[in-house]
Amino acid sequence: MPGRTRQPAGGATSSEPRIRPTPTSPRGRYVATVKENIRLCTDHYRLVLSLPRFPRSTPGQFVEIDCRDPRFAPSADHDPGPRAFDWPPPESFKGDSPVALPRPCPSDPDFNAPLAYLRRPFSLADHRIWPDGYTELDIIHRVVGRGTLLLAQMLPGQTVSLIGPLGTGFTIPQGIELACLVGGGVGIPPMLYMAKGLQQSWIKGGVGFIGAQREDLLPVTIIGPPNAPEPSRAGDPLLNVAEFKEYGYPAVITTDDGSLGMRGYVTEALSAFLEERQVQQGRLMNTIVYCCGPTAMMKATARVAAVFGVPCQVSLEQPMACGMGTCQSCVIKFRPRDLGEGAEWKYKLTCTEGPVFDSRDLVW
Ligand SMILES: Cc1cc2nc3c(=O)[nH]c(=O)nc-3n(C[C@H](O)[C@H](O)[C@H](O)COP(=O)(O)OP(=O)(O)OC[C@H]3O[C@@H](n4cnc5c(N)ncnc54)[C@H](O)[C@@H]3O)c2cc1C
Ligand code: FES
Repeated sequence: MPGRTRQPAGGATSSEPRIRPTPTSPRGRYVATVKENIRLCTDHYRLVLSLPRFPRSTPGQFVEIDCRDPRFAPSADHDPGPRAFDWPPPESFKGDSPVALPRPCPSDPDFNAPLAYLRRPFSLADHRIWPDGYTELDIIHRVVGRGTLLLAQMLPGQTVSLIGPLGTGFTIPQGIELACLVGGGVGIPPMLYMAKGLQQSWIKGGVGFIGAQREDLLPVTIIGPPNAPEPSRAGDPLLNVAEFKEYGYPAVITTDDGSLGMRGYVTEALSAFLEERQVQQGRLMNTIVYCCGPTAMMKATARVAAVFGVPCQVSLEQPMACGMGTCQSCVIKFRPRDLGEGAEWKYKLTCTEGPVFDSRDLVW
């Protein structure tokens, strides 16, 4: 069928085309060089990683980053370097030989050392490929624990190991004309990449809905007066968020405390927008919701979408260990909507069969 793309071998079957087809051998382990690591707001940083090559990715896909102490970072020539698990021999085995590796923190026992042993998953916020294959990946991360703190401390020129691109991306069903991009907290980054993905597709209408607890936790660039209007207190979409304006899409800002934009949850702004559009157009045909954020917010977004009868794709952020289908730590309950409410659900892996799912197929 015209416009449809084949799924990679072994992938889930779907009748919907991907925005950009995932190649058949899409993932690998890469050593990237930190190009920039800029603080965007109180807790968020934009990490720009450069690589000589990286497979094409789709908005919604993610990478698993090794956030180890830089003393254990891999060298740029693909040599993984000393492993974090190669701890020094116990005192009794040392004899006169010098200890091969520095202990990361001499006062701590190994497992309390300031290392993030498992890779941490992060959505792609952008992916730029130059004609010679040279690639830049944008990661917007919030410092919440050991791994993200180490990531925040990375300096330009340091190297970092990553695996990717992982998981499935968002898809655009045929006939869609308007996409609502709903991002909350650390779920905002994939929406920025999705805005770019939409712009490269046949959809020309997009509206961003960006929610945070407070103004200082918004990892986006607000263009204030005199170049653009202030974010609307009433939740009107305006061309004042640089990351969306770049593609011609207006955006709504909501904060829980009302410090910027509309006071309240992003789902309230989405609901008001869909309601107004429904009044203007009757049945809401040709509209879709894409969403990423905390589970409660995605669940509420899925409910709003269901009320208005529009499809909704969510990118789940289940805690993950391996990111590659091995550890089974990321399962979610899945029941395809065509089987009905009474049908049995089954587990699916968020890391390989997601993280993007149709919200109507999930048992929340
Ligand atoms: C597919 C995917 C994409 C993600 N994309 C991004 C992104 O673009 N930007 C970003 O900042 N973060 C993102 N996250 C979340 C990010 O992976 C975690 O914040 C990170 O692993 C925390 O590592 P840490 O060592 O700093 O914290 P830890 O020390 O491991 O944990 C600190 C605290 O954060 C909680 N936590 C850890 N992981 C999660 C999670 N997935 N959901 C909710 N709470 C969690 C822990 O329970 C703990 O309370 C994503 C997660 C997934 C699964
Ligand atoms: S994270 Fe290990 S199986 Fe999904």
